[in-house]
Amino acid sequence: MPKLKLITFGCQANELDSERITGLLLREGYTLTEREEDADLILLNTCAIREKAEHKVYSRLGTFQVLKRQRAGLKIGICGCVAQQEGQALLKRFPYLDFVVGPGQLTAIAPLLQAGTARGLATARAPGYSYPVDAPVQRQNSIRAWVSIMEGCDRFCTFCVVPFTRGRERSRPPEEIVEEIRGLKRQGYREVTLLGQTVNSYGRKLTPPISFVELLRRIDHLVDGHMRVRFTSPHPSDVTDELAAALAELPSLCEQIHLPVQSGSDRILHRMKRGHDRDEYLEKVALLRAKAPEIAITTDIIVGFPGETEEDFQATLDLMQEVGYDGAFIFKYSPRPHTEAEEMPDQLSEEVRGRRLEQALVLMNRLSLERNRAYLGRTVEVLVNREDAKGDSVRHSGRTRQNKIVHFSGEGVEDGSVVSVAITWASALYLQGEMVCL
Ligand code: 5AD
Ligand code: SF4
Repeated sequence: MPKLKLITFGCQANELDSERITGLLLREGYTLTEREEDADLILLNTCAIREKAEHKVYSRLGTFQVLKRQRAGLKIGICGCVAQQEGQALLKRFPYLDFVVGPGQLTAIAPLLQAGTARGLATARAPGYSYPVDAPVQRQNSIRAWVSIMEGCDRFCTFCVVPFTRGRERSRPPEEIVEEIRGLKRQGYREVTLLGQTVNSYGRKLTPPISFVELLRRIDHLVDGHMRVRFTSPHPSDVTDELAAALAELPSLCEQIHLPVQSGSDRILHRMKRGHDRDEYLEKVALLRAKAPEIAITTDIIVGFPGETEEDFQATLDLMQEVGYDGAFIFKYSPRPHTEAEEMPDQLSEEVRGRRLEQALVLMNRLSLERNRAYLGRTVEVLVNREDAKGDSVRHSGRTRQNKIVHFSGEGVEDGSVVSVAITWASALYLQGEMVCL
């Protein structure tokens, strides 16, 4: 049986795509291998969000040139966002590359492999939601699953390559989503995370249209307390009263939101074409906290966007403090092909971007620690999942409804069970405690 080595870079959407690619290729008779040297097919599922991510792909690809010479019949393919962004240029630049497949064309991989020796390109975009319903998903985790509910993005923030790589926004029919989650429930999964680039604009363009909150209600009804439900990532402008109420009221929906802000300066938000300003963002945060006081809020931040002054940067630090984030992914701005910001004249130096990143990370660490310390002495509900453990067999690990990682000791703990843990210690990254029997 031919062997597949699949290497995944990037976001959860890519992780899920890799689970789909694996499912599709297992169906074709492939088996999985960890070792590149044993593989008959090496696939890189790639990320183009920042320059560094793209470079990682090229340097990894470079290491396969020798393997390709040594191993007759070895095929090498690139999928994902770099494939979509670069297309034909990749085949030119890397003569030992066999095929290039965009994120909307996963089902083209098997036919390309069967087609024999010709080098292939599949980056055309399907007009609708592009996952075939019967595509098997070979999931990595048996407790938590990702479920794609929409693809692409229509917002065109000026720094972002996603609308070019993943295309325009397409929502998946609600019946299909509900069916997939029904199947997951049957298989004993305990948590689903609904995925999309701007997940809360789901459903508007479907006929008939359906709101994101209506989808959440249907899912909540279906899982009926047996599963936790999360979603990522919402756009601040589409955080509504109904969504805030749903977070408070739907029992399955976890009190957690990852709400990207990108900058705290109105001037920069405007140049980013984010579609919200600082006040609107803060209003949404206040709304969420008013309805769901226990909610944990995390975010994405870009520092060093073209033209960002010290004052703009300070406004971002102030906003981080004002919100009191539980966590944040903070990135140095990176110019991306096709995007408007790439053309902006006032690009900042690596040194300024690097210094701002360091400063923002120090602040974030302090804020996370403060938020996590508030759990000391409290008892929290933890969904046990071995994947959260860092190779420590003495302790158990899992996550709270707020998505905080908890390590704890206790007897007879099973993966996938929900246990109560009294928190005794907190760091910026995780909590620690003792299991209690209620
Ligand atoms: N440079 C730096 N960070 C970026 N992101 C998106 N595009 C860029 C870029 N060009 C960040 C944003 C987004 C997250 C997924 O990646 O913060 O929310
Ligand atoms: Fe990119 Fe903006 Fe769309 Fe998010 S909302 S995927 S940052 S264009």
